[in-house]
Amino acid sequence: MELRGTMGINGRGHLEIGGCDVVDLAARFGTPLYVFDEELIRGQCRAYQKAFARHYPHSRTIYAGKAFLTLAMCRLIAQEGLCLDVVSGGELYTALAADFPRERIYFHGNNKSREELVMALQAGIGCIVVDNSFELEILDRLCEKLGRQVDILLRVTPGVEAHTHTYIQTGQLDSKFGFPLAQGIAREAVRTALEARNLNLRGLHCHIGSQIFELESFGVTIGILYHFLKEIRDELGWTAAELNLGGGLGIKYSRDDSPISPEEYIAYLVESVRENAAMCRLDLPLISVEPGRSIVGEAGTTLYRVGAVKELPGIRKYITVDGGMGDNPRVALYQAVYEAMVANKADKQKTQLVSVAGKCCESGDMLIWDLEAPEVAPGDILAVFCTGAYTYSMASNYNRLPRPAVVFVSQGSADLVVRRETYATLIANDVIPFRLESLEARSVEQA
Ligand SMILES: Cc1ncc(COP(=O)(O)O)c(C=O)c1O
Repeated sequence: MELRGTMGINGRGHLEIGGCDVVDLAARFGTPLYVFDEELIRGQCRAYQKAFARHYPHSRTIYAGKAFLTLAMCRLIAQEGLCLDVVSGGELYTALAADFPRERIYFHGNNKSREELVMALQAGIGCIVVDNSFELEILDRLCEKLGRQVDILLRVTPGVEAHTHTYIQTGQLDSKFGFPLAQGIAREAVRTALEARNLNLRGLHCHIGSQIFELESFGVTIGILYHFLKEIRDELGWTAAELNLGGGLGIKYSRDDSPISPEEYIAYLVESVRENAAMCRLDLPLISVEPGRSIVGEAGTTLYRVGAVKELPGIRKYITVDGGMGDNPRVALYQAVYEAMVANKADKQKTQLVSVAGKCCESGDMLIWDLEAPEVAPGDILAVFCTGAYTYSMASNYNRLPRPAVVFVSQGSADLVVRRETYATLIANDVIPFRLESLEARSVEQA
């Protein structure tokens, strides 16, 4: 098992992150607890920025907030000089409440409401990534009404779908996102956007998938995009000033994953854009990318306290923790594979194979099927690695479990960035209508 970022094993045989003993963190903040290695997040932001600085300074790294977004995360991303991609009024509200520089915000989403678009326009954010014709139309009308102009990108679907270890080119472009390049649909969208009085069409956006381990799918995509850009230039005389190539770089959840570094990825994208632009005799655009998982995924670790240990002789040994699919739905949703460590026994020999179960009332609420572990006892602290992306942001209150707290650790300090929900938070929005006020049984006629 690989220790990531600032992780280490200290003299007490405990796992440490950011100079903090995680067993102490569990005692201080409670469990489950999301712990983020701030240096590792900053390191990933800088890896993207440095790669671009080396290969192609006319660029932007846009953090995809859907992976993990809080006020503190917005501040960190702002400090690192990245832009921010938001996909809802809630994410936009978070960014604005954190005073994230508005001109560095990109607004995505395949069904933005009028209210969300008005919020974005009134805030004066940098760019709206338009997903469909309906949005093009209402955005132009809203701009007219508010007396605003806005920069937009059009999200296009190139017909390439990247899967974890391979990619396919889809014929039918069957996706809920974006304007398909096929069937003239994207071409029509460009034409409409150019005719719109209040929209400044700055470029194109596409995103072909997530947790991608091979570069070729990006190369194929860029080739297809340039084929389209050349046609559009010849037909409409329009050239893209910005090409946003989405996110998708994979991370090392388990020993079977071999991620590409931001350096290799950016170098490859830049090379591919340069080649295609030269071939099509098009000016080089601003290149932007939107990494989420690869910025924050490996920086997150979830701490759980072990409760019941149940052995089914000859079958399996379950160790049960005080969280599960509520704080990390990815295993149930995507069969995600995680690695973990018994954090208070980090120096002990692993002698057995156990399965880590969550506490939700679903048989599918498993966190890890096969984990090599030392002897495990109730009260031990289990640290599940690589839980920084799409866990807190996808968490639910299923079974009315309060969502865990989040702490950032760095150089021996641990700071709370999201408070733990309480039972009171859980019922804060519940309302009892008048007819249910009484606890007394009602007769059939009354009901
Ligand atoms: C449009 C868009 N951009 C960026 C991302 C971030 O992808 P990742 O977290 O894989 O880098 C996503 C993820 O779904 C996305 O849909």
